[in-house]
Amino acid sequence: MSPAPKVTAVLDVDALIDDPGTRVLVCCGSGGVGKTTTSAALAIRAAERGRRTVVLTIDPAKRLAQALGLQALSNEPGRVEAADGGALSATDGRGELHAMMLDMRRTFDEMVQSHSPPDRAEKIISNPFYQTISSSFSGTQEYMAMEKLGQLAATGEWDLIVVDTPPSRSALDFLDAPQRMSTFLDGRMIRLLSSPARAGGKGLRKLLGAGFSLFARGVGTILGGQLLADASAFVQAFDTMFGGFRERAEATYELLRSPGTAFVVVAAPEPDALREAAYFVDRLSAEGMPLSGLVLNRTHPVLAPLSATRARDAADGLRGAPLAAAVLRLHADRVDLADREERLLARFTSAHPAVAVTRVPVVSGDITDLDGLREIGARLAAASDVTGAEAVASEQSLRPAR
Ligand SMILES: Nc1ncnc2c1ncn2[C@@H]1O[C@H](COP(=O)(O)OP(=O)(O)OP(=O)(O)O)[C@@H](O)[C@H]1O
Ligand SMILES: [Mg+2]
Repeated sequence: MSPAPKVTAVLDVDALIDDPGTRVLVCCGSGGVGKTTTSAALAIRAAERGRRTVVLTIDPAKRLAQALGLQALSNEPGRVEAADGGALSATDGRGELHAMMLDMRRTFDEMVQSHSPPDRAEKIISNPFYQTISSSFSGTQEYMAMEKLGQLAATGEWDLIVVDTPPSRSALDFLDAPQRMSTFLDGRMIRLLSSPARAGGKGLRKLLGAGFSLFARGVGTILGGQLLADASAFVQAFDTMFGGFRERAEATYELLRSPGTAFVVVAAPEPDALREAAYFVDRLSAEGMPLSGLVLNRTHPVLAPLSATRARDAADGLRGAPLAAAVLRLHADRVDLADREERLLARFTSAHPAVAVTRVPVVSGDITDLDGLREIGARLAAASDVTGAEAVASEQSLRPAR
């Protein structure tokens, strides 16, 4: 028998986005859990409640991008307008929504340009080695998202900046990126690359066994020529900029630790996503970064307070009415699913009792327009509206079958 769901602290989303002290909201979580959707929904809600808001999205689905007016990759925020071409309705005159989609390559180029004289910047940007790492090194996207956040914050134009994070497997990648990128740009990684035999050492030799020397020769042939020359030219040209890069990364990291920043962790009600969320919560507290709460996204709440057992018993008694029996069995399955999700959440909250939670049920159809985002926003904020009676009713409906 499973334990009844514990009462969890409720994440009051409206209080969070209305608070003038909240200046940066970062939506983190593992791949595919709903970070982009949550960021856009929080941003539109904040704008419509009167804040001048910008949302930095990363790789939004095409139709969502269109709804936010993001067809063109400008790498700068553009104002979002309602479908009829009018402005979004804000309760006072001030609320505005601006949105942008991160252009990783362009952000990197701009960084190079702002840290070096024009002729040198040109040389770096046209270097094939730079072109490869600026578009494909893992971590570049995370790093550039932070850089862009730093830029947006520096303008002082925004009441609230909502930041989506890249689709990495692990939510931690976002926090690890600056360090990884620094190590890479520091030249250490490049030195490793340029002497694979030494760098690979025993581990690599062992792994590759007899094939090792063949491998090393192969790598030597591939890397030995142009790429190595490009790499070392790149390292030389980059060397002078490196200090500036590191300072910026450190400044943005400090911004993430400042009291105006709030992290929202998004997770699906699934074991892997919740495990990742738990790692992330621990990491935030280790780094002294402020966590606002957990969004449990795509839940399957039960609407009728009928237990799975009773629904199945009733279905068994309805031999003559197959349709009604099928509906009851579907309901029973749904109760089981809701129960499983609540148990997963209970496991998370018992290890992290201080983390406030809001649940967003799965909605039908894809979320591709502003109304869809508004609906998600309303669900995000709904938890703190639930009255005591409703909370009790919904908790009873989630009680496991007996
Ligand atoms: N509550 C919900 N109900 C139904 N569908 C949802 C819900 N939340 C998100 N989705 C859908 O799930 C998909 C993934 O969402 P989204 O792109 O926001 O996730 P993500 O965490 O940003 O993914 P990635 O890690 O790839 O960036 C999208 O098609 C989105 O429309
Ligand atoms: Mg996304």
